[in-house]
Amino acid sequence: MGDEPVNVKEYQILARQALPKMYYDYFAGGSEDQHTLRENVAAFQRITFTLLSYEYAILQHAINSLRPRILVDVSKIDMSTTILGYKTSAPIMIAPTAMHKLAHPEGEVLTAKAAAACDVIMGLSFSSTCTIEEVASSCDAVRFFQLYVYKRREISALMVKRAEANRFKAILLTVDTPKLGRREADKKNKMIAPQLKNFEGLVSTKVDDSDGSNLEAFAARSLDPSLSWKDIAWLKSITKLPVLIKGVLTREDDVIYILNLSLCFLVAVKAMEVGVEGIIVSNHGARQLDYVPATINALEEVVLAVQGRVPVHFDGGIRRGTDVFKALALGAQAVLVGRPVVFGLAAKGEYGARRVIEMLKDELELTMALSGCPTLNDITRNHVRTQSDNRHCRINYLVAGSIFNFNDDNDNLMIFMCTYPFVRIVDAAQKCIVLDLNTVGRPVVFGLAAKGEYGARRVIEMLKDELELTMALSGCPTLNDITRNHVRTQSDNRHCRM
Ligand SMILES: Cc1cc2nc3c(=O)[nH]c(=O)nc-3n(C[C@H](O)[C@H](O)[C@H](O)COP(=O)(O)O)c2cc1C
Repeated sequence: MGDEPVNVKEYQILARQALPKMYYDYFAGGSEDQHTLRENVAAFQRITFTLLSYEYAILQHAINSLRPRILVDVSKIDMSTTILGYKTSAPIMIAPTAMHKLAHPEGEVLTAKAAAACDVIMGLSFSSTCTIEEVASSCDAVRFFQLYVYKRREISALMVKRAEANRFKAILLTVDTPKLGRREADKKNKMIAPQLKNFEGLVSTKVDDSDGSNLEAFAARSLDPSLSWKDIAWLKSITKLPVLIKGVLTREDDVIYILNLSLCFLVAVKAMEVGVEGIIVSNHGARQLDYVPATINALEEVVLAVQGRVPVHFDGGIRRGTDVFKALALGAQAVLVGRPVVFGLAAKGEYGARRVIEMLKDELELTMALSGCPTLNDITRNHVRTQSDNRHCRINYLVAGSIFNFNDDNDNLMIFMCTYPFVRIVDAAQKCIVLDLNTVGRPVVFGLAAKGEYGARRVIEMLKDELELTMALSGCPTLNDITRNHVRTQSDNRHCRM
């Protein structure tokens, strides 16, 4: 590879070379087995383009007035759009990611400058290393502020006020982080989070945790795990800015039992009830609950449920302009890009972050040209083919008086589903609680062989900790809340059971 990357993925290689292992692992990693991390990217690769044939186009024309998309004049491609009324050169935003000074000494200020240079919207993380004021005064990029709700509400409220005073245009409320996901690389590296300047004099990020990452210990101390729907009313009462909820892969308690309702439907409807101005389909870059679906597999259901009432945005796994196109075809209004921008920043500072966005824009432009789409409005669902289309297993469900299409898909499409390991862990830990250690089997024996009683105990403790976190991230405060609807097995896929 020459020094000048030709695609976004190559920036990751440069970032790896540029960063200390602890920081690279922090930016690159996902949670636990990193299944969802891999899936976020791999699921895009299973979506292909449909080049509309004449017959197909005629058929579509008969059905819904689509015109043949051949011999279209693509000499001018227009990728510009508006997001919440703000003009942007492309439907691509910078996702809020924490602590950019770990990637580059100048941190988020450079990222914001890159956003301004590319004329795209910048999402600033609550956990940024530059202050809200520093980022605001560095450039004129349109900026959205991402919010975590801390146990000490007054701190979150203060940050919202500061964002508002510094002309941030929207609040992205992250709803998938009642607790921090288990990022095992950070534990192993004993990741140390720097003091966040925004909180100087308010909260110290210095937390002793000789066992693992101090980031995890800090999050456990700060994040409010009781955050619920009613808190959106609180947030709306303290700000006039539009609120978007980010991370719709949580479940909603009272409705999970209603057969065949997918969580995205529930979240979408709930979200609209509480008056949010937009939804971001996100699994936090696969850093929270592992084994949730790849976000691209969850997107379409959310879009169908929302029915255009609020904009649906998307993030997770975008590495190519073709990925952006696919997300738009499946109904996203815009996408957010996380790691690639940080890798660009780490490798080549502002220039690198800018090149990442430019490359994605260039690739999207080319994809639009080669697909016969001179404008974003020309991109339709018919331009892409997903695995579920291939299996011809679309099922119509009658839900609350409306018909929604739910695809039968063995790629974790039903977004409220957790997975087999969850069941296994529940099984194991439940048995541990009744002290029938033999039923856990090999792991306990291996623990015993490695470190005696301590090892066996740690095996059980780890399973218990993981179960506790899985329950928290699945919205299950008690064991009774765990239902068959939380998991999808291979046989469900085979029988199209929902
Ligand atoms: C290193 C890192 C830090 C992140 N920090 C935050 C954060 O502070 N707040 C937040 O809402 N999401 C955070 N995210 C999630 C991103 O906003 C976004 O959802 C995700 O990065 C999209 O996936 P991608 O990295 O594959 O593009 C973070 C992601 C990464 C990789």
